[in-house]
Amino acid sequence: LPRRARHRSMLRPMADADPGFAPAKVNLTLHVTGRRADGYHLLDSLVVFADLGDRLTVAADEALSLRVTGPMAAGVPTGADNLVLRAARLLDPEGAARITLDKHLPAAAGIGGGSSDAAAALRLLSRHWKRPMPDRVEALGADVPMCLDPRAQRVGGIGERSMIVGGLPELPAVLVNPGAPVATPAVFARMTRRDNAPMPPELPVLATPGAAAEWLAAQRNDLEGPACAVAPVIRDVLDALGDARLARMSGSGATCFGLYDRPDDARAAADRIAQTEPGWWVRVVTLNPSA
Ligand code: C5P
Repeated sequence: LPRRARHRSMLRPMADADPGFAPAKVNLTLHVTGRRADGYHLLDSLVVFADLGDRLTVAADEALSLRVTGPMAAGVPTGADNLVLRAARLLDPEGAARITLDKHLPAAAGIGGGSSDAAAALRLLSRHWKRPMPDRVEALGADVPMCLDPRAQRVGGIGERSMIVGGLPELPAVLVNPGAPVATPAVFARMTRRDNAPMPPELPVLATPGAAAEWLAAQRNDLEGPACAVAPVIRDVLDALGDARLARMSGSGATCFGLYDRPDDARAAADRIAQTEPGWWVRVVTLNPSA
């Protein structure tokens, strides 16, 4: 990033006014650049968050418990393997609290629902229990560290290394998920090339959604092809977003995003897609809100 942009982003106060909000994570780009000896993949990814997400609340109680509510609650595990409970246990193995997770994001969908929930649990419970943030939150999942801060980030390593970036506008967008859960390891396993080019070392300042879409179009999500092989319906989702300035898959799928010049364009596209495919999850969002 040019120094100007980096400086501006550092001056912005950390957006932690609402620590229980667990926003959707969107990979605007996801370049797979290599593989570590342990099998994890090296990434170079530009990540933003949406103004749509899950919501966590905590209340004092005598034991640790988790209740899942909301439109996407069905099928979310509530046992000890739930990332929210694992996050709580990482913070304090003895801690007690009644946690409610109001679920609005589809699970196993490439938009970081579980990771963002875990990050929100860490933010909320570290305050509630007055505990410091644990050192190795990536033990909960490679995407959890980046979800601790909702600002735009360039993510490296296997996801645990990130740098806040400026120079990106608010992006009117549509998120579309066809309702097919996609297992991340299956998508990585389908990759034929793992030594792809990273993004350019310096990200330009992108002043408008149009400029952002144009620059992003020259970048990639290297998991798109493998994910389409695992779940061919992803091609249909990308086709349905065909009128967007840019249509791309997020993470390992199946959720795809379309970028538009104006919120009205995004709303029109979302209405049309929701009408044609009533079974799909279709949402109008702003990515990188209050940029
Ligand atoms: O860290 P997390 O549990 O989210 O990762 C799920 C799986 O995704 C890993 O077991 C691995 O197969 C794959 N993965 C990867 N490279 C990454 C992140 C995840 O290969 N950077």
